Amino acid sequence: MARRKIIAGNWKMNMTPTEAVALVDTLKPLVVNDDVDVVFCVPAIDIIPAMEAAKGSNIAIGAENLYFEDKGAYTGEISPAMLVDAGVKYVIIGHSERREYFAETDETVNKKVLKAFAYGLTPIICCGETLTQREQGITIDWIRQQIKIAFLNVTEEQAKKAVIAYEPIWAIGTGKVATTEQAEEVCAAIRACIKELYGAETAEAIRIQYGGSVSASSAPELFAQPDIDGGLVGGASLKPDFGKIVNYNK
Ligand code: PGA
Repeated sequence: MARRKIIAGNWKMNMTPTEAVALVDTLKPLVVNDDVDVVFCVPAIDIIPAMEAAKGSNIAIGAENLYFEDKGAYTGEISPAMLVDAGVKYVIIGHSERREYFAETDETVNKKVLKAFAYGLTPIICCGETLTQREQGITIDWIRQQIKIAFLNVTEEQAKKAVIAYEPIWAIGTGKVATTEQAEEVCAAIRACIKELYGAETAEAIRIQYGGSVSASSAPELFAQPDIDGGLVGGASLKPDFGKIVNYNK
């Protein structure tokens, strides 16, 4: 069975609650595509107003992070139960910006992935290499290690539902999109790694996105690759162009 594409926006630290409602209202009619799952991952404070604004549409609202404990004395963090209660279905985990600026590691990513699954949330698990690592020729080794640690103790049933976002760090927010060949090569290697860990059925089911300067012009070729099941989109998800990305196949 063909995998359903999943195209997610990552708003990062943009949009006040008022702006979030306006953006959802603007994009709502533009992101209609029955062939694709459409997700807006928004700042925590925007989740509830964005959810309200997206009601009755095909847009699912996701979070950009969660904490790996159930509740308690963790000032400033967001618990999985809070996300579930707000109606969230997807959560980005281990984005490279969180790894770089907020000290997230493969180990904390793994804890968050396990916690997301425990609460029925679908994690969008990010991985990606730096430009130095690509030049050193260790991209695939690096990504395989990130994936293996992220999936420690994740069951086969859970892994089938996971989403992985391959985002080369040098392509994020730089306007420097990976070539289609580079993106497909790594996404295929990720699927092969999942096959080693869980078997062919899980590898066929899991969805792997490409992220990093995806635009309306690069999306059609990227998303047509056999191992690329959609995208995680930053900058362009805040603009009407996101409608063109979602409708890459029209
Ligand atoms: P970008 O961001 O599309 O602005 O490069 C992608 C991401 O960081 O998820």
